[in-house]
Amino acid sequence: MKVVVTGGAGYIGSHTVVELLERGHDVHVVDSFCNSERSVIARIAGLVGKPVPFSELDILDSSALTDCLIEVRPDAVIHFAALKSVGESISMPLEYYRANVEGTISLLSAMDAAGCSRLVFSSTATIYGEPEECPVPETASLRPPTPYGRTKLASEWVIRDCVDAPDSKLIAVILRYFNPVGAHPSGLIGELPRGLPNNLAPYITQTAAGLRSHVRVFGADYPTPDGTGVRDFIHVVDLAVAHVAALQVLEGGDGKSLTLNLGTGRPYSVLEMIQAFSDVVGHPVPYEVVERRTGDIVESWADPSRAEALLDWRATRSLREICEDAWRWQRNLSCRALED
Ligand code: NAD
Ligand code: UD1
Repeated sequence: MKVVVTGGAGYIGSHTVVELLERGHDVHVVDSFCNSERSVIARIAGLVGKPVPFSELDILDSSALTDCLIEVRPDAVIHFAALKSVGESISMPLEYYRANVEGTISLLSAMDAAGCSRLVFSSTATIYGEPEECPVPETASLRPPTPYGRTKLASEWVIRDCVDAPDSKLIAVILRYFNPVGAHPSGLIGELPRGLPNNLAPYITQTAAGLRSHVRVFGADYPTPDGTGVRDFIHVVDLAVAHVAALQVLEGGDGKSLTLNLGTGRPYSVLEMIQAFSDVVGHPVPYEVVERRTGDIVESWADPSRAEALLDWRATRSLREICEDAWRWQRNLSCRALED
């Protein structure tokens, strides 16, 4: 298939582009590089041994996006491009609604103009808020606790309404990711957190690399087995593979939207993560328990059985592989920083 990947230079997008190219798909990346580096494109090309065509544009530029899609004529679009910082979304809600909701509308209009009717959309488990039950099924209540989460839920609504419109040819797979972690095993691509990382895994690897003094564990008095928060950490390559499977489902699609959780179904606590990284790094990663982080949920892990059945997919990479790959990427990043 010919696939346009918006946000294809970003963390999850870049890993998906690699998996698509390795399976023989034809890929065209659309990215403004507002939260990624141009060099990622060259690194993907080096990794797969093929050029990676791309257009540098903002998806909010509807006319440029429409021209691009009309020229490329994709069979499908995978839509990653969005802003994702929870804290920023609280201080700049309009920017987030514009980038994420208006960006999705701009994309859907451009797809319509280009006669492209297959879409895979990046959503997030944060729209479940504090889940009523774990593992979390797709039918759980939706109550996103932040503007970021609400922009993703609003984007889901826009997509479903477009699918359901009379005479619409649009078919969509909406993927709700739990906690993406890890990096490509080559060590050539991975997450590029700017400034102080918000998420646990990059904070641990930066601490292990000596860039931070210790990990701050946000609360050890939660009603969980060891008192720390519990999440479903899924290897980014497992996520990427699920996107390729979603495209296959769309190829034989029946004109409906499908909403699927992407997780491992296996919960790990914050302390278990720190221990797993310490084992891989070869020394204890220092940590200190501090106050709970405002807005954090206690625990969340996926019921991924629907995705497993419908995509014929399963997250196979272990916590050990997650830590090894994330640590290899962190060491390469540290070497690059020294060279710069
Ligand atoms: P990322 O920031 O690494 O990648 C996003 C990419 O989109 C970047 O390359 C950025 O430059 C590009 N981009 C952003 N706005 C754009 C615009 N207006 N026009 C063109 N390009 C634009 O983020 P990621 O972690 O790879 O996340 C990808 C998607 O997955 C997002 O939609 C995010 O909401 C969703 N998601 C991420 C996580 C996570 O923890 N990383 C969890 C759940 C869902
Ligand atoms: C966070 C976001 C969520 C977003 C997701 C993307 C918040 C409140 N939630 O979710 O909206 O979709 O990232 O992956 O920001 N932790 C520490 N120390 C740290 C960092 C985290 O103890 O330095 C703990 C947290 O309290 C939590 C767990 O680690 O229990 C995971 O945190 P994180 O990686 O930020 O993910 P989420 O909280 O699930």
